[in-house]
Amino acid sequence: MAQHGLIGLFPQWYVPNFGSGYIVALYASIHMLLSHISVGSSFLVAYFYTKAYKNNDEQLFRYVKQYLLRFLIYPYIIGSVTGPGIWFSTTVSAPRGISSLIHNFVWVWGAEEIFFISEVMLIYILYYNYERIARRTFMHWTWGFAFLSWGTMLLIVGILSFMLTPGQRDTWAQTGNMLYGFWTTNYFPHVFMRTSFMFALAALLGLVVAVYIKNPKLKQEVVRELSLIGMGGIFFGGVFLYWYLRTIPARSELILTQVIPQPFLLTIGFAVLGLTLFFAAYFIWPKLNQSRALLVALFIGVLVLAIFPSERAREWMRKPYVAGEFMYVNQVIARDVPGRGMKSELPLLAEEGMLKAHPFVPESVKTITPDNALEAGRAMAMIACANCHSLDERGPRPLVLKMQGVNNPEIMLQFLERRLGGDMTQGQAPYMPILAATEAEKRALANYLVELNRQFLEKKVKNTPLPYPLLQERSSQHQERSSR
Ligand code: HEC
Repeated sequence: MAQHGLIGLFPQWYVPNFGSGYIVALYASIHMLLSHISVGSSFLVAYFYTKAYKNNDEQLFRYVKQYLLRFLIYPYIIGSVTGPGIWFSTTVSAPRGISSLIHNFVWVWGAEEIFFISEVMLIYILYYNYERIARRTFMHWTWGFAFLSWGTMLLIVGILSFMLTPGQRDTWAQTGNMLYGFWTTNYFPHVFMRTSFMFALAALLGLVVAVYIKNPKLKQEVVRELSLIGMGGIFFGGVFLYWYLRTIPARSELILTQVIPQPFLLTIGFAVLGLTLFFAAYFIWPKLNQSRALLVALFIGVLVLAIFPSERAREWMRKPYVAGEFMYVNQVIARDVPGRGMKSELPLLAEEGMLKAHPFVPESVKTITPDNALEAGRAMAMIACANCHSLDERGPRPLVLKMQGVNNPEIMLQFLERRLGGDMTQGQAPYMPILAATEAEKRALANYLVELNRQFLEKKVKNTPLPYPLLQERSSQHQERSSR
């Protein structure tokens, strides 16, 4: 909240040539894979245990035990490390975003924590007492375990959906009532989509463990069933994905169809198709050799080709906001949320300036002079752009690759005023925030960006060939001009 012209921003976490966002994404993707596997597996455990109980099948009991062991060790342990990793990395990369989510959803997260702790206790109890607990009771516990695990997903998905859009945004903003933010328009499609895909991932893990089943007949039966579950999961996941995409805001739809590169989305499509064919092959020929190396490679493939890109796409579609269509990725509050006592900070920033209002900007650049203008411009880029754009050549959307070599500060200023000026009819980019700053700050930023371009081109000219033809053209002009 505004106090003496300062707003509640935190120091900027900038990771050169990589980007703080990718560090979050790294933890999040691994966590996403493992958490989906473990929730899905909990249902497969319950299902196969029940089957073993009904048929009194000792072999199947043993498979379930091995299955429990595998998913106890891998997903739970690595998941318990990457989970806090997400907390730590998001807390430093988007401190205000995470704080606003905690304030809004404190009870949801509290409940999730209880579900999670119970789930973790249950898995250990079940595993270490496999032979000791009466089988009937055990069977009931496995189902309890499965629904507890799914409960954590039901809660977290509400928060993830809210991050994209609160759905009934105005009602939520007016009342500040958590439930209006939680039951968003895309909650159910999102839950069903994740639930379906999680079964496919669990089936993949099931196949890895099925290698250990000795009895060939049982092995074939289990492989067949798992392949069917895998294909079903992918099929229904696709259906719910379609529904999900119909519930996203218009802005996100535009980003999806026009901004995210097509090959990026195609990768996900091909990975999912590949996985489907793989399940189909095992379904038709359950005797196919299950090389563990192949299956592990598949997991890595799914992680790299499907999960990482789709989590990134979800993050992309959320732009320019980090949470609930009220907070920008650069942590500025962009809208009044009376129900939560929040006010848009854009008017204050436009009047007093971003550098002045940011508590962690060094005093030396708070007032722009010809001497510190470049430094002030860099500070502006750091707090206004660097959450989404790398200021180096590598990392997320490097500015130097986006600016097409513009070398005139006036043109750069016009760009800022048009694409980040806040007026949709004048060309405000739907995926970028409004740049609320004083005229002098915008000028300093434009000058700095031109300087960034100049340095980049100078360096590139030395190491031709260039990646972009346009840049090559511009840089040769630039070179001509500078050699004149
Ligand atoms: C909320 C994230 C976000 C912030 C903050 C942001 N941008 Fe962008 N910007 C994007 C996205 C998304 C694109 C689309 C291209 C892409 O994704 O590669 C983009 C594209 C651009 C482009 C390419 C031309 C265009 O209009 O699409 C330029 C230049 C650019 N941004 C400059 C800036 C500058 C300068 C700032 C800081 C004042 C800034 N951006 C802040 C997300 C952001």
